[in-house]
Amino acid sequence: MSRKIVIFDTTLRDGEQSPGASMNINEKVAIAKQLERLGVDVIEAGFAAASPGDKESIAEVSKVLEKPIIASLARAVKKDIEAAAEALKNAKRKRIHTFIATSPVHVEKKLGMSYEAVKEAAIDAVKYARNFTDDVEFSAEDATRSDWDYLCEIFEGAINAGAGTINIPDTVGYTTPQEYYDLINYILNKVPNIDKAVVSVHCHNDLGMAVANSLSAVLAGANQVECTINGIGERAGNAALEEIVMALKVRADFYKDCYTDINTKEIYTTSRLVSKLTGLKVQRNKAIVGKNAFAHEAGIHQDGVIKEKSTYEIMKPEDVGIDTSKLVLGKHSGRHGLEERLKELGYNLTKEQIDDLFVEFKKLADKKKEIYDEDLMALIEDKFKLI
Ligand code: KIV
Ligand code: ZN
Repeated sequence: MSRKIVIFDTTLRDGEQSPGASMNINEKVAIAKQLERLGVDVIEAGFAAASPGDKESIAEVSKVLEKPIIASLARAVKKDIEAAAEALKNAKRKRIHTFIATSPVHVEKKLGMSYEAVKEAAIDAVKYARNFTDDVEFSAEDATRSDWDYLCEIFEGAINAGAGTINIPDTVGYTTPQEYYDLINYILNKVPNIDKAVVSVHCHNDLGMAVANSLSAVLAGANQVECTINGIGERAGNAALEEIVMALKVRADFYKDCYTDINTKEIYTTSRLVSKLTGLKVQRNKAIVGKNAFAHEAGIHQDGVIKEKSTYEIMKPEDVGIDTSKLVLGKHSGRHGLEERLKELGYNLTKEQIDDLFVEFKKLADKKKEIYDEDLMALIEDKFKLI
């Protein structure tokens, strides 16, 4: 039987916490629109109480998107929840994502609270957030270094208070695939009202296991995965969306026919846009979206691929939107070629706007050999602010 895995993208919140990755409002809106085209289910657009800029960009993203649920992070305190609700007020579908830490080091050293007080704060936060929306997510920060029975107690309370999603973050990238599997399994078996909530996972990559841990959690029964484009995020980053989605697709046989609603053909464009707007380069050998991901250098491999692609390719470049046959625009491309590409990308520009853009396009083409979709998107955003 097939099982849908909800893709919760946090590129604009946890991803933006990558050192050097901050984005302005227009850039965030451009990425949010591309995430909608990609087909993510939930977009965490920011942390409203963190800064006025964050709050404003959540509000802007909320105004322009139709399909995905827009989420704002909020600590388990009233003023954060109110800021999140305010930022999300125009969203068609909204979620407040509230969290508090549950591990001994966080509870005792960071929060200086008793375990009972943390539990109470979590329950109060969920109840308070429910005044603003029916869709509330609760996260137990540093869950993987917390006492399992205490976690179960707090999740039971959060679900009774109205949380529709409970999230089990591996905040410091500490867990292992087998251990995380066991933890998810424990929670699924021990929390009496767990069937009333979606179980979500959120993994960091400090030991390079964020994707493996997330997939292990899916096998154990988790139904939502939190991830970022290109795996950007705090320190070593978060689980990479493109790797999770393609693993579930290519190995649906192994992952018990789990599927996502991601339009995988939009993966490459999304990856390039995020890289361009954050300034964080994608390493050449990065799985799925790196420059070398589909390159075959060794003669024996090239020979095999020419005879039969599946000898060395487990997925097609076109599956992730790398169209090997597509004409790349360059300095010899004409106005007509540009116009056609803009139409394919879904832009409805006036004749004057295209004329203007063509001038900028030629200037860029003089500096850069090949102009990709995300270069065009960045030009449009720069000139007309209408992505
Ligand atoms: O890593 C983490 O614990 C988080 C939570 C706030 C969800 O990002
Ligand atoms: Zn995180």
